[in-house]
Amino acid sequence: MRNFEFYNPVRIIFGKGRIAKLSGLIPQNANILLTYGGGSIKRNGIYDQVIAALKGFNVIEFGGIEANPHYETLMKGVEQIKAHKIDFLLAVGGGSVLDGTKFMAAAALWEGSDPWEILSRRNEVSVSVAIPVGTVLTLPATGSEMNGGAVVTRWETKDKLAFSSEKVMPLFSILDPEVVFSLPQRQVANGIADAFIHTMEQYLTYPVNAPVQDKFAESLLTTLIDEGPKVLANRTDYDAAANFMWAATMALNGIIGVGVPQDWASHMIGHELTALHGIDHGRTLCIILPGVMRVKRTNKEAKILQYGERVWKITEGTTAEKIDAIIAKTVDFFESLGIGTKLSDYGIGAEIIPTIIGRFENRGIKAFGERGDVTLEEIAKILELQLK
Ligand code: NZQ
Ligand code: ZN
Repeated sequence: MRNFEFYNPVRIIFGKGRIAKLSGLIPQNANILLTYGGGSIKRNGIYDQVIAALKGFNVIEFGGIEANPHYETLMKGVEQIKAHKIDFLLAVGGGSVLDGTKFMAAAALWEGSDPWEILSRRNEVSVSVAIPVGTVLTLPATGSEMNGGAVVTRWETKDKLAFSSEKVMPLFSILDPEVVFSLPQRQVANGIADAFIHTMEQYLTYPVNAPVQDKFAESLLTTLIDEGPKVLANRTDYDAAANFMWAATMALNGIIGVGVPQDWASHMIGHELTALHGIDHGRTLCIILPGVMRVKRTNKEAKILQYGERVWKITEGTTAEKIDAIIAKTVDFFESLGIGTKLSDYGIGAEIIPTIIGRFENRGIKAFGERGDVTLEEIAKILELQLK
C-alpha cells in the first residue's frame, strides 16, 4: 500500500425525517443563501421541509442552478452573496446544486482576477478560503455531499472543468433516503452508474496489496448491483434507497481511494461528451468505461480478473475469455439500467473523435490513467471502439 493522508470532516446526518435537524447545524445569526436547482424540491416537499426547519433564520433564495451547473449562472449567485452579506450557503439538490454552491463558496472570496481560474488553473492556484457550506442531498450519485470536489461548465466555451479543495467540503450533509422516492427512473439509473464507476476508477487499476480498499470497493460494487435494481423497480423501498444512498456517498468520500492508484480516464473523457452533447454525466461513463477496459485489458489484467471473480463470479475459461466475459457483464449491467453504452445510442458519430482530441491538445493534456499512459492515441481508440 502507498503512503497516504486522509482527512474528511463532513458530518453526515443520515435517515428518515432528518431534514428537521437543520436548525441545530447552522449558526442562529447566519445570513443563509439557500441554493437549489430547477424546482424539483418545490414539487416533492423537500423545500417545505427545509423552510420549516429554518424558521426564524435569515434566508435568501437562489434557485435555477441547472444540471451541469453553468459558471455564468453561478456568478449571478456570487453577486447575491456579496449584495446580501451571505455567510452560510445551504445547497439543497443533487450533485449539480452541491457543486455549483461549492464553487460559489470559493468564488465569492476569491482574490485572484477571475474566479474561473479556480477551474482553469486548478494545478497552479489553490482555494485558501471559502464561505461555509451545508447540504441537503436529493440525489445519490456524485458523492459531492462528502467530498471537496466540484465540476462546473462554462457555457460560452463549453468547457466542463473540475476543482477540488478541502475548503469547500461541506460542514454537514443531510442524507434522507426518502428523497429517492421522487426521483425519475433516468436519474436513479444515472446515480447507480456514477457511483459504480467512481468505485471502478479507484479500484480497476493494478494491485498494490491493499485488501481493505479492494474489499471495500467490491462491497460497494455488489451493493449497487443488488440494491440498484430494487430502487428502480420500487421507488418507495426505503431500505433499498438507504443502501443505494450510502453506497453512493462511500464511493467518493476518499475512503476507498487512499493508498491505491486511481484512474479517472473515464471521467475526464466523459466530461467532454457532456460539455459537447449534453449527455448526462452517469451515461457518459457507461459509454467510456467499457472502452477503457477494452483498450487497457493487459495493463489492468490482474484487477479485471479479480473484479470478475469476486463481483461477477467469473472463473471459467482462458484469461482472454474471462476478460471478454467480464467486460460483457459490466456492459449488460449498464444496459439493464436502461443506459446505452455506445456513442451511436446518442446519435454521435466518428466526428467526435478529432473534436475531443483537439480539445485535450489545446489544454496541453497528454494522457490520463493510473500509469499516465492513456495517451491521446488511446483515447481516440477508446472512442472508436465505443462508436457502435
Ligand atoms: O434541478 P432540479 O429541478 O432539482 O432537478 C434535478 C435535475 O434535473 C433532478 N433531481 C434531483 N433530485 C431530485 C430530482 N428530481 C426529483 N426528485 C429529486 N429528489 O435530477 C436532475 C439531475 O440533477 P443533477 O444534480 O444534475 O444530477 P447529479 O447528482 O447526477 O449531478 C451531476 C453533476 O455532478 C458532477 C457531474 O459532472 C455533473 O455536473 N459530479 C460531481 C462530482 C463531485 N462533486 O465529486 C463527481 C462526479 O463524478 C460528477 O462529475
Ligand atoms: Zn462521476
